[in-house]
Amino acid sequence: MGKKVYIETYGCQMNVADTEVIFSILAKEGYSRTSEIGEADLIMANTCSVRDNAEQRIWGRIAVFDKERESRPGVVVGILGCMAERLKDKLLDTGKIDLVAGPDAYRALPRMLRDISEGPQIEVMLSRSETYDDIIPVRTDRNGVSAFISIMRGCNNVCSYCVVPYTRGAERSRDPKTIVREACDVFSKGYREVTLLGQNVDSYLWKDPDGNDVGFAALLGAVAEISPLLRVRFSTSNPQDISEEVIRTMAAHPNICRHIHLPVQSGSDPVLERMRRRYTREGYLEKVSMIRSVLPDICLSTDVIAGFCGETEEDHRLTLSLFSEVGFDAAFMFRYSERPGTLAARKYADDVPEEVKIRRLNEIIELQNSLSLESNRRDVGKRFEVLVEGPSKRNGDEFCGRTTGNKMCVFPASSLKAGDYVDVVVRDCTSATLFCDLA
Ligand code: SAH
Ligand code: SF4
Ligand code: F3S
Repeated sequence: MGKKVYIETYGCQMNVADTEVIFSILAKEGYSRTSEIGEADLIMANTCSVRDNAEQRIWGRIAVFDKERESRPGVVVGILGCMAERLKDKLLDTGKIDLVAGPDAYRALPRMLRDISEGPQIEVMLSRSETYDDIIPVRTDRNGVSAFISIMRGCNNVCSYCVVPYTRGAERSRDPKTIVREACDVFSKGYREVTLLGQNVDSYLWKDPDGNDVGFAALLGAVAEISPLLRVRFSTSNPQDISEEVIRTMAAHPNICRHIHLPVQSGSDPVLERMRRRYTREGYLEKVSMIRSVLPDICLSTDVIAGFCGETEEDHRLTLSLFSEVGFDAAFMFRYSERPGTLAARKYADDVPEEVKIRRLNEIIELQNSLSLESNRRDVGKRFEVLVEGPSKRNGDEFCGRTTGNKMCVFPASSLKAGDYVDVVVRDCTSATLFCDLA
């Protein structure tokens, strides 16, 4: 009887893509996937360390996994991903975990599993070259329409609040040939959307042995050329690095989606400087103008951190005013969580009281909700092409899918199926959803 593996995935899209690589590596060892923890021989979590609450959730899951491990002899529990890299043998010290593997160590999993009878296994070496470029991921998406493709790993920035460079190591780019091949492969299997993933996609750079270097704009263009029916998205763009060349490449390819995720983190220069972000408020706004001058219909989303070290009320108001000025279509909003070992943890006091962080975050959320609603209201009456993802969560008679700007639409199911393109007209909206009729 083959063994069964169960994996829970936390954190960013990169972890989702990594879990697909891990399933592929384990499939070669005879492990089949299960979504039932109770029948798994191998129970793992692919973890995130970006904020303390992300790690707290994992500790809760470790307690749950431990019950399985206690009640069914032979069950192996493993921790993968960023928290494995950050906490290393501290995880093994709990006595509840048999295996710890960091983001660059997944090729070692088969060996670690074979050696597990000799005792707990740990592999947390970071690599300068690992990109898993030859591994064909086992897709875990539910709809068969949308796939993540990792184009690079690690991060060379040192944003002072961020743990990612420590958990994922130095930046390295993946061979573009393998990226285009993977995108072609998913397209031929019926997928209609790929999202190219990296912590800073604009610094993607493949050094070709023949001297023909490939940058992000060229890679993006090459993936977009696969088929006009393949939508191409990417994340994340860093404000200091996003280039006009990339924007022009988008303009030249209608199938590159009209959406850019451009994390701002703060609207105040002194805060941006302490965060070691390499742009100013003005620089950010200039990038937004440059993008909008080429792509007037672009949708913009962002990330923001409320209550970073030393943030004053004035700094906070500048963040609110920047949000209003840009009018983001969507945002991921967080309160600052100090991460041990980061520059900010070593250098600055985490001095904004928790209740102030929460209040500021709530003010940002409230403002963004009204901006999202305004943005959606402007779309009422307009026609959009939507890529059908499948039945809507709330109502089985309806389907859902996104506009090129990444807005979620709900519309009558008709005879549509996932992967179809359909034209809709927006009838009504909330801040999160466009309610549409078929055009
Ligand atoms: N590479 C991406 C994002 C990585 S982490 C980028 O540079 O934008 C995703 C988001 O988590 C960040 O954009 C930031 O807003 C948030 N984040 C990172 N570290 C954090 C911390 N210590 N506390 C709160 N939010 C944090
Ligand atoms: Fe973290 Fe900054 Fe790198 Fe993004 S660019 S992963 S925020 S260090
Ligand atoms: Fe992603 Fe979390 Fe690691 S955001 S890179 S899984 S710390």
